[in-house]
Amino acid sequence: MVSRVIPVDTFDLVIFGGTGDLARRKILPGLFRRFLSGQMPSDSRVIGAARSELDSNGYRQMISDAIAEFGGDEKSDKDGLAAFLARLEYVTVDAKGENGWSELAKLMRKDIVKAFYFSVGPSLFGDLAERLHKHKIADANSRIVVEKPFGRDLETAQALNETLAAHFEEGQIYRIDHYLGKETVQNLMAVRFGNVLFEPLWNNHYVDHIQITVAETVGVGGRGAYYDRAGAMRDMVQNHLMQLLCLIAMEPPSQFGADEVRDEKLKVISELETVDAHHIVRGQYNAGGDGDSYRVDAENPRSFTESFIAMKCHISNWRWSGVPFYLRTGKRMKARTSEIAVVFKELGHSIFDGDSGTHQNILAIRLQPNEGIDMQVTIKEPGPGGMRLVDVPLDMSFAEALGDADIEVADAYERLIMDVIRGNQTLFMRGDEVEAAWRWTDPLIAGWEGRSDVPKLYDAGSAGPEDAMMLMHRDNRKWREVKG
Ligand SMILES: NC(=O)c1ccc[n+]([C@@H]2O[C@H](COP(=O)([O-])OP(=O)(O)OC[C@H]3O[C@@H](n4cnc5c(N)ncnc54)[C@H](OP(=O)(O)O)[C@@H]3O)[C@@H](O)[C@H]2O)c1
Repeated sequence: MVSRVIPVDTFDLVIFGGTGDLARRKILPGLFRRFLSGQMPSDSRVIGAARSELDSNGYRQMISDAIAEFGGDEKSDKDGLAAFLARLEYVTVDAKGENGWSELAKLMRKDIVKAFYFSVGPSLFGDLAERLHKHKIADANSRIVVEKPFGRDLETAQALNETLAAHFEEGQIYRIDHYLGKETVQNLMAVRFGNVLFEPLWNNHYVDHIQITVAETVGVGGRGAYYDRAGAMRDMVQNHLMQLLCLIAMEPPSQFGADEVRDEKLKVISELETVDAHHIVRGQYNAGGDGDSYRVDAENPRSFTESFIAMKCHISNWRWSGVPFYLRTGKRMKARTSEIAVVFKELGHSIFDGDSGTHQNILAIRLQPNEGIDMQVTIKEPGPGGMRLVDVPLDMSFAEALGDADIEVADAYERLIMDVIRGNQTLFMRGDEVEAAWRWTDPLIAGWEGRSDVPKLYDAGSAGPEDAMMLMHRDNRKWREVKG
């Protein structure tokens, strides 16, 4: 199957922080793929902006090196690469001073889509917004893209929202959560709202519980200082896991429009109950394999910050009353995997005398690796010997079903940047959503900080601390295996 590529309008995209890790690793290699696919019009431009003293040729070399290091198979297309690099410019700009702004203003073209990616620390967002306005570089049709973390609590998130709102309308602000750009996350909505099969079962009559797991094998080395001030709750749960929870739990929007979807997500966050302290397990990884312990990686021998968290949440509405949502995320775990599993209830009565086992249908949505959807169904065990039942997966791997080429173009960042150019905010977080997420998160963090809770240690390469297993076992349930 060949995917249909619809070119976006011609644009000028300025990447503040264009020399940084995110720009070199994700944004520019992704734009190169969009360029090769024909989705980025060949008269569009990408303008790197940072303090480093470079000219446009120096920047092209930097990005050529980055694509060689981080790009995929497409980097072998030398002519394509040369054509893409020719679309790059660079301006030396200081977000905190006046240096470079009039050069940037001169470079921008009129009457085309202008987008500004703030790929810098959040402390610079206000300076950038103010100077874009002051130098008349942005106009009413311009968009800004802001990276996570969006605040570290409700107060700082509100302050950031106010800072941006001073110069941009909400409809111009694209708060990025790259999880929402993943193919499977959008497929989750297609599966729910595009099939007659699932929606009738999507409630507390049929669903036993839902599990969301985001497990990483890497530790915090390299970003230990930032991470130690954040922890898994701020770094992962408040944004990524919360967004997944919203998409799985939200009511059907009246249409697939930005505000319709985001209104429904906001309702889910507002309906999340406060989590009992006994339903939260925080962990820290021990040294293991060839890696150091969390405290060594974070360079904080007395750190109480969690590198793992598991919790049981409830949503207080008619659809989900009584259905637990178990969330789990951690670093240096057994395998790198992200998965949402909808575990349906057991049948009330079995007609098969010979079968002593219990069977549950499970719909598992895999975000990584190997994006796809897996439905566990119960069938007869093949062969003679009566009606013994067995649970087997009906596996739909997108790579197999649609062909590898289509999967390759589906990187979250490039998809989301194209949405910015199209002016489609559906897959971006609205300001009130982010604030609501912090409103739920803050008291939980204050709770364990107030009690000076010490995270439980877990072995690197495991599925997390034993207490996390107990969180499920107490309810006669079990986590799905963490496997890559
Ligand atoms: N890296 C990731 O995978 C990742 C993932 C999710 C979110 N993020 C977020 O994305 C943002 C960027 O992350 P990063 O990893 O790319 O950071 P980084 O590698 O430290 O890059 C920061 C960029 O900001 C520029 N910069 C710093 N001060 C500046 C100033 N006063 N004026 C203009 N430019 C300035 C730097 O260039 P000069 O030094 O040349 O000025 C550099 O290009 C952060 O908010 C981060 O939390 C990153």
